Amino acid sequence: MALTPELSKKTHLKEVAGIPLQVATVDNWRQIQSFEAKPDDLLICTYPKSGTTWIQEIVDMIEQNGDMEKCRRTIIQHRHPFIEWARPPQPSGVDKANAMPAPRILRTHLPTHLLPPSFWENNCKFLYVARNAKDCMVSYYHFQRMNQVLPDPGTWEEYFETFINGKVGWGSWFEHVKGWWEMRDRYQILFLFYEDIKRDPKHEIQKVIKFMGKNLDEMVLDKIVQETSFEKMKENPMTNRSTVPKSILDQSISPFMRKGTVGDWKNYFTVAQNEKFDEIYRRKMEGTSINFCMEL
Ligand code: A3P
Repeated sequence: MALTPELSKKTHLKEVAGIPLQVATVDNWRQIQSFEAKPDDLLICTYPKSGTTWIQEIVDMIEQNGDMEKCRRTIIQHRHPFIEWARPPQPSGVDKANAMPAPRILRTHLPTHLLPPSFWENNCKFLYVARNAKDCMVSYYHFQRMNQVLPDPGTWEEYFETFINGKVGWGSWFEHVKGWWEMRDRYQILFLFYEDIKRDPKHEIQKVIKFMGKNLDEMVLDKIVQETSFEKMKENPMTNRSTVPKSILDQSISPFMRKGTVGDWKNYFTVAQNEKFDEIYRRKMEGTSINFCMEL
């Protein structure tokens, strides 16, 4: 696969097949691509800022049969190895996954065409969570403001263009969502929407339980719904990233658990931006049957 030169020093991103990724990820690309998935792996897949942390906590609570103490064994970032993550000399996501006993639960932000092929070859289970593009853009903008190792997003107006053009980490929202949506009938993919989990968490969590082949009683289900609410996760040091140093995530600029709502985009998009976005969305998503809810 052709690697293009670093976009610029300031961006801290390099491209693989047109997808901007963190430099250390690209430098470790061979190890990532040759990762050996196992048939009983479950891979949590998301575009950034689509509710990754939320679904991770839900999945972990299901896996631990609702035992909060077990979920508190370590911070959420360390529970499910992040396949493409690399920050030498620390062990990479692949190293961590290789050291993990089966059955493994892993996570990725990679688009379908960059996923290590062994995931497809082993017919693994994929749990994809999609979030509407407008809220995703707002959330990513604030994340890039507070994340000291990602490129500075610039002004909102500048970021609007950057996001639309897919010049952000993990590339175009449109291509990512379309790619995974198109795979959903060919592989074992549970495709969920952030907005549905927000509207009816119990119903969506039940789908995850079934997909994971678990059987939990009603009381445990209710507990999972409560413990994975935005308010609870914002207070929980194991999920709110408060243990990450300020030199990496500066939560005084914007908290990691920021708003957790559907429709915050209305506070950012101007009428002109909204019209432009809708037109681009129509063109880029033409022919797909996917439908997003933009407000609750
Ligand atoms: P906002 O910035 O809109 O608040 P990720 O984990 O993929 O980085 O996604 C982060 C986004 O998910 C943030 O969105 C965060 O607040 C939101 N989020 C995290 N936990 C949540 C929860 N329990 N309920 C709703 N939203 C949640």
